[in-house]
Amino acid sequence: MKRVGMLTSGGDCQALNATMRGVAKGLYRAFPDEVEIIGFEDGYRGLIYGDYRQMKPRDFSGILTRGGTILGTSRQPFKLMRVPDENGLDKVEAMKQTYRKLKLDCLVVLGGNGSQKTANLLREEGLNIVSLPKTIDNDLWGTDMTFGFQSAVNVATNAIDCIHTTAASHGRVFIVEIMGHKVGWLTLYAGVAGGADIILLPEIPYDIDVVVNALKQRQKKGKRFSIIAVAEGAISKEDAKLSKKELKEKKKAGMVYPSVAYEIGAQITERTGQEVRVTVPGHMQRGGEPCPYDRALATRLGAYASKLIAKEEYGYMVAVKNNDLAKVPLEEVAGKLKTVDPKCPMIAEAKAIGICFGDK
Ligand code: F6P
Repeated sequence: MKRVGMLTSGGDCQALNATMRGVAKGLYRAFPDEVEIIGFEDGYRGLIYGDYRQMKPRDFSGILTRGGTILGTSRQPFKLMRVPDENGLDKVEAMKQTYRKLKLDCLVVLGGNGSQKTANLLREEGLNIVSLPKTIDNDLWGTDMTFGFQSAVNVATNAIDCIHTTAASHGRVFIVEIMGHKVGWLTLYAGVAGGADIILLPEIPYDIDVVVNALKQRQKKGKRFSIIAVAEGAISKEDAKLSKKELKEKKKAGMVYPSVAYEIGAQITERTGQEVRVTVPGHMQRGGEPCPYDRALATRLGAYASKLIAKEEYGYMVAVKNNDLAKVPLEEVAGKLKTVDPKCPMIAEAKAIGICFGDK
């Protein structure tokens, strides 16, 4: 009998269920009547506190198109994994105990950056792990694509599309703030797909004068409106030079805006007198059903993971490499971010058609 644990960890995204379905269907076929899947509730929390349930084949039916996660999820920061909980519980030891008590052959982890770090920690502690690349941010090192990303691009692009018509009617500047604190993949793809005039990413610190100048140029050309796609983690050139501590102090001392989009909006109004509106689609970007691309990708990733388990090949994250699937050692993935290279072809192409990135 194969005993496989499964959990979804960190911020949710579309296609978590589709991916679990792929793993489960692959396992049920590889080991007919000889596999038990144990689902942990709310990510690593369930593994720590022994909160789990025995899954049945019917649990994985009818969930290909369902957003969210049937197992629930939670954020259990990696940096706190070695810190005992409020009752003095050693979380890593507790996770190992749950795994051993349930006599698991392996644990399947669906997660983003922090979750992959914890997966690697558990691998180092001797647990058999197979992980899958989840996040709308597409920032996992070692994979060309994460599941959830394309669905989020669809939602964010749709938000920009909707803004387009109202922006055109009123002749205003609209700022659409897109998720991504550290990386700008989602903003870049949605910005280009939605026809944004200015795209601001965490990887390319912006100069507000350059942004204002781009807006003025558009006005001169008779354009009635402008759309700016801003990543939540976009940062000015000035602020990028500060240390984390200095930045925190600056924010405390100065005017505090709800987010960077509002700060940029206020600066634009002050310098140009133009009317500015801010739209924040927020968690809508992680919600709703997965797009067809993500359903197909999730199914493939899940099936590949089930094959790794059948072959007892553990310690890997399943990844997309050059349009094919591959396994990447967890120790190579953990702790690294896949950021947007400001010199990448896509940025050059976007600049070639006149999109401003706030740098020059
Ligand atoms: O990691 C995915 C993500 O949606 C980021 O893009 C965003 O910055 C963050 O999660 C939001 O986290 P939370 O759901 O905890 O507010």
